[in-house]
Order: sequence, then C-alpha cells, then structure tokens
Amino acid sequence: MFLTRVIRLLMQPGRIILAVMKRLPFGSYETRCALDLYPRPHYAYGVQQAAELARRLRVGRISVVEFGVAGGAGLVEMSRQAALATKATGVQIDVYGFDTGQGLPKPTDFRDLPYIWREGDFVMDVAALQRKLPDAHLILGNLSDTATQFLDGEQPAPIGFVSIDVDFYSSTAAALAIFAGDHKYFLPRVFCYLDDTVGDDDQIIHNEYVGELAAIREFNEASRTAKLSAINGLRHKRVVPAPWNDNIFALHRFDHPDYGTYVGREDTQTQLPL
Ligand SMILES: C[S@@+](CC[C@H](N)C(=O)[O-])C[C@H]1O[C@@H](n2cnc3c(N)ncnc32)[C@H](O)[C@@H]1O
Repeated sequence: MFLTRVIRLLMQPGRIILAVMKRLPFGSYETRCALDLYPRPHYAYGVQQAAELARRLRVGRISVVEFGVAGGAGLVEMSRQAALATKATGVQIDVYGFDTGQGLPKPTDFRDLPYIWREGDFVMDVAALQRKLPDAHLILGNLSDTATQFLDGEQPAPIGFVSIDVDFYSSTAAALAIFAGDHKYFLPRVFCYLDDTVGDDDQIIHNEYVGELAAIREFNEASRTAKLSAINGLRHKRVVPAPWNDNIFALHRFDHPDYGTYVGREDTQTQLPL
C-alpha cells in the first residue's frame, strides 16, 4: 500500500511539488487556497467559496456544516478554515457538526453497503472534541431526528457549505432532507463535499444505485427546483487535479430569491475587444 502510494506520487510530479509547498509557510490565505495548500483542501475550497459568495451577496454571517464528524479531525480543520475565511472576507461563520457520537448506526439495507461498513465504526470521544472545539456546535443523535429539527430549532445563519461523510445511503438521504428547508436558511448555491462518491478501488464500487450516489440521484429526481450537481470542469481549474475535485458538488436552489442576484465584477463594464 505504502509503495503504491509512493509510486502514484512519483507518477504525478505536480503533486510532489504541492506536497513540498504545503510545508513552506508562504503566501496569503487566497494564494494557499488557490494552490490547494491546506490540509483537506476540499474544506478550504468549500468554506472559502461559501464566504466569498456571501460577501458578494452582502450576507454578513453564514453557517458551514459537517454531517459525519467521527473523531473530529475534519471538524477541527473546517473550524480553522472558517476563522481564516472570516479574516479574509469579514463574513462571520458558524460551524456545526452532526454525528451520532456512537459511530455508524445499524445499516438499513444493501444500499447502506454493509459489505464494507459496520455498525459502531467511527466512535467519537465527545468530551475530547468539545474541549478542542469549544466554539463549534456539536449536534449529537441520529440524523433522521436531528437534521430535520435543526433549521427551525436552531435558526442558523444561511448555510453556504456542507460536507456529507456519513457513508450510508440512508444517512445521506437523512442529511439531504435538510435542503427541503426554507430558503432563508441557505445561500442560493450551497457548496457541498460528498465524500462517499469515490472510494478505494479494492473495496467500494460506488454507483448511482447504492450509497451516497443513490441518495443524490433520488434527491434530484424528487425536486424540480433544487438540484445537487457536480461542478463541471473543477479539476481543470485546480493547479494540480486531485481526487477530491470529483467530490465537490453545488446545490442549486433555482427559486431562491437571490439565485439571480448578480455576483460578478462590479468595477468594470464587461466588454470584449473586437
Ligand atoms: C467516515 S465517518 C466521518 C469522518 C469525518 N468526516 C472525518 O473526516 O474525520 C462517518 C460518520 O458518520 C456518522 N453517521 C453515519 N450515519 C449517521 C446517522 N444516521 N446519524 C448521525 N451520524 C451518522 C458516524 O457516526 C461516523 O462518525
């Protein structure tokens, strides 16, 4: 496994250069985001894009959400990115993490891929995580209860970035149910990271009939005015294409009052030379 990883890296020299650059303390927040130099660059991308969209829409406070926290390393990085994005854009960012706290629940049926995931995997040390992240909001319980109650109960600032990493079809469907909430709880386009759409090739063969991809397909089939869809061509916009590029989606809320609000350049009239 280690050797395979090393050979894979050697075959992509750009990745080696990035790995070295990640260790060098240079560049502004914007530069480090643009070059994908932060650990878990999908969080840096999602949080920065959400904060920038909020700034352009003149929304002063947003929320970012992680469904599936496990030990909490991802939530720690998301919180760090939120602080960096606030400093850069002035947009305040609240961080929410959802988990059972007790690891994976019981799989519901074959769509939860029980051939690879087991009940009780990914238990959390709740007290340790709360000590580490006193400002993050940790919401414990099964998503089938917590996700639907969250919006009207918590009244969060508009959600701009969501990471969904809950492995199961049933848990992803429960997380996606939050998107049925009122537009006031969302930016018109919500950046999303969907972890379980690409897996290790020795174990998981993700497809649209099981797991996270099945939940996404059903979500899109059920809604005419909200669609969760990959960001076309994202990998070509990164300095070095990486697997996480294929996990990034955006939720488009076509009938959100701000969906059509102009967020392009304000300083010049767009003109193309003859
Ligand atoms: C792979 S782990 C998350 C890893 C984490 N995102 C990270 O990057 O470190 C999946 C997590 O999803 C949680 N989970 C799965 N189904 C859930 C459900 N229905 N309700 C709440 N949490 C759930 C599990 O408890 C587990 O901690």
